[in-house]
Amino acid sequence: MKKLVVLLVHSATGFCLLAASPTFTIDAGHSAGKVSPILYGLMTEEINHSYDGGLYAELIRNRAFSDDPSTPAHWSVVKDNHSDANVALDSKNPLNAQLKASLRLTVARATKEHPAGVANSGYWGIPVHPDTRYHAMLFAKTEAEFAGPVTVSLVGEDDGTVYGTSQISQLGTQWKRFEVTLKTGKVLPTARAHFALVLDRPGTVWLGFVSLFPPTWNDRPNGLRKDLMQMLIDLKPKFLRFPGGNYVEGDTIESRFDWKKTLGPIEERPGHPCPWGYRSTDGMGLLEFLCWCEDMKAEPVLAVYAGYSLKGIHVNPGADLEPCIQEALEEIEYVISDTTTHWGARRAKDGHPDPFKLTYVEIGNEDWFDKSLSYDDRFAQFYDAIKARYPRLKLISTVANEQPEKLRVHSRKPDMIDEHYYRSTDEFLRMSPNYARSYDRKGPEIFVGEWAAHEDARIKPWDAAARQQPPTPTMKAAIGDAAFMAALERNSDLIKMQCYAPLLVNVSPGARQWRPDLIGYDALSAYGSPSYYAQLMFSSNLGDEILSVTASDTSIQGCATRESKTGEIFIKLVNTEANEEPLKLEIKGVTGLASEGNVLTLAGSPEDTNSRSHPRNIVPVATKLARLQPVFTYTMPPDSIVLLKFKSRSGSTPRD
Ligand code: AHR
Repeated sequence: MKKLVVLLVHSATGFCLLAASPTFTIDAGHSAGKVSPILYGLMTEEINHSYDGGLYAELIRNRAFSDDPSTPAHWSVVKDNHSDANVALDSKNPLNAQLKASLRLTVARATKEHPAGVANSGYWGIPVHPDTRYHAMLFAKTEAEFAGPVTVSLVGEDDGTVYGTSQISQLGTQWKRFEVTLKTGKVLPTARAHFALVLDRPGTVWLGFVSLFPPTWNDRPNGLRKDLMQMLIDLKPKFLRFPGGNYVEGDTIESRFDWKKTLGPIEERPGHPCPWGYRSTDGMGLLEFLCWCEDMKAEPVLAVYAGYSLKGIHVNPGADLEPCIQEALEEIEYVISDTTTHWGARRAKDGHPDPFKLTYVEIGNEDWFDKSLSYDDRFAQFYDAIKARYPRLKLISTVANEQPEKLRVHSRKPDMIDEHYYRSTDEFLRMSPNYARSYDRKGPEIFVGEWAAHEDARIKPWDAAARQQPPTPTMKAAIGDAAFMAALERNSDLIKMQCYAPLLVNVSPGARQWRPDLIGYDALSAYGSPSYYAQLMFSSNLGDEILSVTASDTSIQGCATRESKTGEIFIKLVNTEANEEPLKLEIKGVTGLASEGNVLTLAGSPEDTNSRSHPRNIVPVATKLARLQPVFTYTMPPDSIVLLKFKSRSGSTPRD
């Protein structure tokens, strides 16, 4: 119930009427705690084609011919009425010991006018951009009689337009590596294209491995997609939690993220089945994850395999677990040790002599699923071994405080605990006002390592029904996210890190396993959901001091922080109602405010969203705040997330 009290308040423009409530009172007289400087980060794993067919820029699908042992999936024959060819997997002629098969292309009939060969459809199309250089790398060999050449091209699906082409020659009977550039001209961007490799005469050619990359972020070989990287860097992430999630665990011990198999030349990486129903190339290997962190100026939060896999298999603590412990110690050595160590030297050989920064290591993932109750002992064994060798590293337990007592870690004190929340917007709105209030401020620190609001409490993100809904969240979910982020900021003296999950989704038909996801894309373009823009507003406007906030007579949720050096105050507000709401803001403990401030507003109907075809339907809109006084009224638009920022003065001069 809103009180109908009216006050006369003196403002720069004279006396004006202000409703006494709803009110947000912000105590800027003193800091209520330090904002964690690493609060905003990212979490990823191979899900929804996040890497293969996503951030990892490789364009050839099934490049190592290992996706399906019975057929050359995603490869097809190129021929016309005057030419003929067939393709088959050849397990007798693999490129190397790591790969199981090559692709044998037999061209029975072909001429210059009527070539024949093989095509790859990529990950829902090969994206063609104008004036772009694509780097193709392949291993091939031939029978003695075939003299070549072989033509590789980017070809339009609809009309056979050749967007870029090059030839390779001097194939021999032994495997040889070939590299060519395919350069496009002034063409319209399209993903209705494929990669083709054709012969203009009969012959047999074996392909051992075929790769095609567009230009990548920072021009890294084996690198990342530029548009997605820009969107991630815009979020200013301070850390990256990888490689999972379920992906670190695997369905079985054999299909865990076996980091050693992800190092070295890409043609020697066999890949492995990922728990989300498709095969990972392992092109995103341990070093690629670390370089990705480096490119974002983010610190890795390294999750190590901890002896539990998703099908309920656990490794007994004690001697049985020792190989897992060693594997984790060696992995850490690869990340942070100098080149005098075995794994530091291997990192240098792989191209990165400098060690990476590392503070947090997560022991497993969601180990509350381990009903054998072995996590306490497994955690202790990892804890003792890692702390003995690397005492400064902070170790994260994956069993949250809300889990039953018997599943949690008791025998050691974790430095940090990872909590996961996949809940509806309504649940987030209910839990956020009091979230973490009762937590012991003495620690362990809290990491909200996976969370996301979804719209409908009845449909869980992992349900098949969720796949019938749009892949990325609506404005309604963004409101739930923002209310929770405000709670995280209010408690960021204890909540040191948080990251939304999943981060990425390929929105092409059949590509996803989970919704909602923060950023959607197809082969050609990417877009941010309303939740992405809410994250952007929050993470780009983070002070270093928490200011306490008292809300009265309002359903509006929010938080306030300040940057101590500049005196800039950031107020984040979330209107969960369908009506606009005038909100009185009282900034206490300041002698004045700069006369002007800035506003960012994200608003829309709850069901509104962004999509491939309407990528900027809901984006933050910037406006100004004028004639600011320590008590002022701001009218919150319906269903909105608002950031107010302005400088304050606590002495006699404003820090304008
Ligand atoms: O984010 C999707 C999945 O949700 C993660 O892999 C897992 O940790 C959680 O259950």
